[in-house]
Amino acid sequence: MKKPLRILHFSDIHVSAPVHRMRWSKWFGKRGIGAINLLRGRARYFDEVEEKMRALVHFKEENSIDIVINTGDYTALGLPHELVLARRLVDPMMYSPQSYLTVPGNHDIYVHEGESHYRFAEQFCSVLQSDLPEYCRGGHYPLVRFFGEDMAVIVLNSSKPNPKPWRSDGHIPRKQLEALDLLLQDERIAGRFLIVMTHYAPRLANGEPDRKLHGLRNADDLLHSCRTIERGAILFGHIHRTYRVDVPEVKIPLYCAGSATMKGHEGAWVYEIDGGKMDARRLYWSGGVYSYEPA
Ligand SMILES: [Fe+2]
Ligand SMILES: [Fe+2]
Repeated sequence: MKKPLRILHFSDIHVSAPVHRMRWSKWFGKRGIGAINLLRGRARYFDEVEEKMRALVHFKEENSIDIVINTGDYTALGLPHELVLARRLVDPMMYSPQSYLTVPGNHDIYVHEGESHYRFAEQFCSVLQSDLPEYCRGGHYPLVRFFGEDMAVIVLNSSKPNPKPWRSDGHIPRKQLEALDLLLQDERIAGRFLIVMTHYAPRLANGEPDRKLHGLRNADDLLHSCRTIERGAILFGHIHRTYRVDVPEVKIPLYCAGSATMKGHEGAWVYEIDGGKMDARRLYWSGGVYSYEPA
């Protein structure tokens, strides 16, 4: 009998290295406003990131996790030293690059500046290899990873720089969605349990779309593309609350990992896939450890 696959899904750890290390030239525009927000208190919500990540790594090692999924927002301001620190914190989960899947969040490619698009790939290149590279459209996505004969993960990038301070919305480029439509007709994908993951939430916990300036602008298009998936799930982060929601547009459930490190809202999911069925268990943070929430 085949062993069930166990997946840890966490997100939005928002590492914020001290802003005094930020060069003066970066204080202009959106990043300056973000840095002021950190100084005014936002950073306090994420000041135990290192402790919580060590606890999550410990949980992963103690609970026979086969696959780790992170749906982005590793950083607060998309600064190189934040990405380096975040990469170091998740490093123990990446010893097997094939079993770690990730995508940038909007905070990881915060603003347009020089090489900022490459910074994420620079830190995470070892886990950005696709098993079907012919479907990549501009960069690494859609990224496809096969697990045995029965399961596959499809990763879509919905994050983009948002230089205007009042915007933190995302969208999946049309070329990626066209590639997704083709992928879903590919016989190598057919019949598998399919996980589709991205950073932005296609729907909130109440089943409604997120606000225009904060949400996934083409959420309806993503759900439309996923309407034919019979067995699987759509995974995401961005909203700092852990929830599951079922919506009429698709036959598969939607799971938001919330934030693994935000004070008072810590959470993550473990999914167990066995015989084409998925069970989800929520994790909670208490007493310095991550544990399964009582059933
Ligand atoms: Fe976030
Ligand atoms: Fe986000």
